Amino acid sequence: MGLKGDTITIHGGRPLRGRIELKGAKNLVTKAMVAAILGETPSVLRDVPDISDVRVVRGLLDVHGVKVTSDEEGVLHLDPSNVESAHMADIDAHAGSSRIPILFCGPLLHRLGEAFIPDLGGCRIGDRPIDYHLEVLRQFGAVVEKQPSGIRMSAPNGLKGTKVHLPYPSVGATEQVLLTAVRAEGITELRGAAIEPEIMDLINILQKMGAIITVDTDRVIRIEGVDRLDGYSHTALFDRNEAASWAAAALATEGDIFVGGARQAEMLTFLNVFRKVGGKFDIADDGIRFYHPGTQLNPVIIETDVHPGFMTDWQQPLVVALTKAKGVSIVHETVYEQRFGFVDALVEMGATIQVHKECLGGQACRFGQRNFNHSAVISGPTHLRGADIVVPDLRGGFSHLIAALSAEGTSRVSNVGIISRGYENFIAKLEQLGADFVLEG
Ligand code: EPZ
Repeated sequence: MGLKGDTITIHGGRPLRGRIELKGAKNLVTKAMVAAILGETPSVLRDVPDISDVRVVRGLLDVHGVKVTSDEEGVLHLDPSNVESAHMADIDAHAGSSRIPILFCGPLLHRLGEAFIPDLGGCRIGDRPIDYHLEVLRQFGAVVEKQPSGIRMSAPNGLKGTKVHLPYPSVGATEQVLLTAVRAEGITELRGAAIEPEIMDLINILQKMGAIITVDTDRVIRIEGVDRLDGYSHTALFDRNEAASWAAAALATEGDIFVGGARQAEMLTFLNVFRKVGGKFDIADDGIRFYHPGTQLNPVIIETDVHPGFMTDWQQPLVVALTKAKGVSIVHETVYEQRFGFVDALVEMGATIQVHKECLGGQACRFGQRNFNHSAVISGPTHLRGADIVVPDLRGGFSHLIAALSAEGTSRVSNVGIISRGYENFIAKLEQLGADFVLEG
């Protein structure tokens, strides 16, 4: 759903109340679509959200000859029978700012012996390097050549299992190993893996296709390469990041939101923090009800980390709620070096937030001595006043929406199209929850 004017005018101060339904996780569905390339037969993926990141991957699959059809809402049929090489220009035209093209490499090298990736984008939350990915692919035997408009890869002697030890439990690099190792010759051992629920769901998918993958207690993932994978039929895991975003919106607007499809097990760490802030939640079989306690919110000290820690994607929406807590909260962002750009707009609206280069509130992290403002101190309670805001990135953008909804007065929020990258029909959801706003343009 493209937003015509890309700007919405929000009249804040009204609690969000009602029910919204989640679809599959953006950060699983996009990878599951890529995994279909590995199958000799078609795949079916259910609970696919209508978001632009999914449309980008559909476009990329299309230029590679993979037929993607959808005869009912949220269900994709992916047929990789005629997968073929694509021109760099076509890939670039479809990739937009997505980082997904890097994950096409393993599957395309297996199917075609070559792959191209244009220079990549992604939200501006750090320089988003792909060094771990390129190193991993080289270890499998890929030849990586830098070209003027991107990178060309080939696998003259095929891809062979290898021992990988990631310098940081990167989600993307873990997925790179999985998507390459399942059809490589021999065994691959991955140390330092990320084990987010989205990655475990990708492993479920690969196992359905015929892969042999074990995840040991010490988080070592071993993959035995097989010489054939078939298509899968899978219903995607729910979107934890969207669930956490609406939960934070309920707190910040003093509201009450039932998030259909949210499950406790994958939200455990978030639910603990939500309760410590003072939020109330009720776990039901078909979702989770998140609501404001009607009393003062409490400050907390949070350190983001890989799973099962507090996800980096959860801190931005929660920071808005923390501006209303009585006291001083600290958020130490240890996954991305520059993920507090969104707080500038909150300060303009009246929040008291300072960012620091030091590792505050927890253990020293890899950004401590490198001049990155990666710790935030939030003092409250403060009242936010409406302002004109330009959305910087996906999660920061959703936080700006929440801030405008919880502020007194009117805010004009522009560049909101970015939010539809990861939040399906968020305009309709805001209407369902009683938000007072007007779409411009
Ligand atoms: C995935 O990004 C998610 N995106 C991110 O969600 C999420 O925040 C992140 O994982 C962490 O959970 C998708 O799945 C599409 P990483 P990814 O590799 O895989 C560094 C959202 O809003 N790194 O785990 O790119 C990197 O710079 C998005 O939905 C390297 O140095 O994240 C970062 O500091 C935002 N070299 C850290 O690792 C590499 O080659 C973690 O990145 C790769 C990563």
